[in-house]
Amino acid sequence: MIDWKTDSWRKFPIKQVPEYSNISNVALVEKELSIRPPLVFAEEARRLRKRMADVAEGKAFLLQGGDCAESFAEHNANNIRDSFRVLLQMAVVLTFGSALPVIKIGRLAGQYSKPRSSPFEVINDVSLPSYRGDMVNDMLFDEEARKPDPERLLKVYDKSAATLNLLRAFAGGGMADLTKLHEWNLEFVRGTKAAEKYKELAAKITSSLEFMKACGMTPENTPQLRETEFYTSHEGLLLNYEEALTRKDTITEEKGWFATSAHMLWIGDRTRDIDEAHVEYMRGIANPIGLKCGPSTNPDDLLRLIERLNPLNQSGRLTLIARMGSSEIQKKLKPLITAVKKSGLIVGWCCDPMHGNTVKASSGFKTRKMDDIMTEVKGFFEVHKEMDTIPGGVHFEMTGQNVTECVGGVYEVNESNLADRYHTHCDPRLNATQSLELAFLLADLLSENRKGLNKEIAAVS
Ligand code: PEP
Ligand code: CO
Repeated sequence: MIDWKTDSWRKFPIKQVPEYSNISNVALVEKELSIRPPLVFAEEARRLRKRMADVAEGKAFLLQGGDCAESFAEHNANNIRDSFRVLLQMAVVLTFGSALPVIKIGRLAGQYSKPRSSPFEVINDVSLPSYRGDMVNDMLFDEEARKPDPERLLKVYDKSAATLNLLRAFAGGGMADLTKLHEWNLEFVRGTKAAEKYKELAAKITSSLEFMKACGMTPENTPQLRETEFYTSHEGLLLNYEEALTRKDTITEEKGWFATSAHMLWIGDRTRDIDEAHVEYMRGIANPIGLKCGPSTNPDDLLRLIERLNPLNQSGRLTLIARMGSSEIQKKLKPLITAVKKSGLIVGWCCDPMHGNTVKASSGFKTRKMDDIMTEVKGFFEVHKEMDTIPGGVHFEMTGQNVTECVGGVYEVNESNLADRYHTHCDPRLNATQSLELAFLLADLLSENRKGLNKEIAAVS
């Protein structure tokens, strides 16, 4: 890549950077990170790029989800296991509805930093630096706690390595075994309508597995039945951390530079300026990347961004993650798809139905309504149907825990019980039941798409 270096972003204007008081400590931490082993391997990122090419071409569906912000306090085996299980359940529901492979990517093992709309937070006339995620400072509203601390970058590396280790063990070590699919239902989900629907579906799959067993295919002799591919991702926000973990691939002819902090990174809606540092860093790495597109995205700017980020027009390299809001999706997405379609540029399209739908409840809690989330997802599918393009996947914030952060859904979390179990370190997440409900809606939409396609094929042949 001409004129690109792992540190060339440093010459560009940059947004959302923490103001550290001791710069020499930051440099020491960066040096330490640069000699630590990579967290992922280039070949894995390349494999994900191929999977994302399938997503862009309608041969697979993307399921990307996890915490808005991971936190040190909630970093434990049960939380990781429960998020993993819910994502697996959703993937099973979607595979059944779409008859397509589902590509699973967690917002996990590195999602510890947050862009903020204001650098300061004011409470009772006291102004302190905003909380920017555990990678930067502490959430506690206290002067000392809010000071950015570079040592946190090392802690993020350690926590991410531990999470990734467990995820790899789950994915390959038996947790994803399809014959155990009944066991993935979490205790508190049992008895809900979504759980009942899941049970019915699990029973159907189990009887197919029994048939396959009779034909000689078992989890012991067929790895696809007992293992799964699971990838990690986060917003590439703190570029000094990413730079220190960017490594040259020495194994293949391609010899590209790979971000090794995760398989996939995305550029946030607040840092997608073409002349700024985040785009500069991302254009040079060979991983599959995402670009968040909010309602202010202009079609011409988007085309320039796509050309900058994917100059070779490779399929699977770039996924556009639209996050328009339920009332804007129809109006804002269509012009973007029209422009991209006309240009011949290859992208995958994914829907983030969370970030355009955040509202403040009267109790002061930030929340999101299930109805708005569902409306945005439906709108995303409708626009793609109208434009004859591919609704490739979803990107959302969830947890396997029984939280009360988003309102609506079968449990009818309402505004008055948001305070019951509101644990998020940033934006409100779907709980396990709400995540399953979203999966069933998606499965219906995907299965309608499939029926439409089958009809077209039948008409042609
Ligand atoms: C996020 O994904 O948590 C986020 C901050 O999103 P966006 O950049 O789309 O606002
Ligand atoms: Co968020």
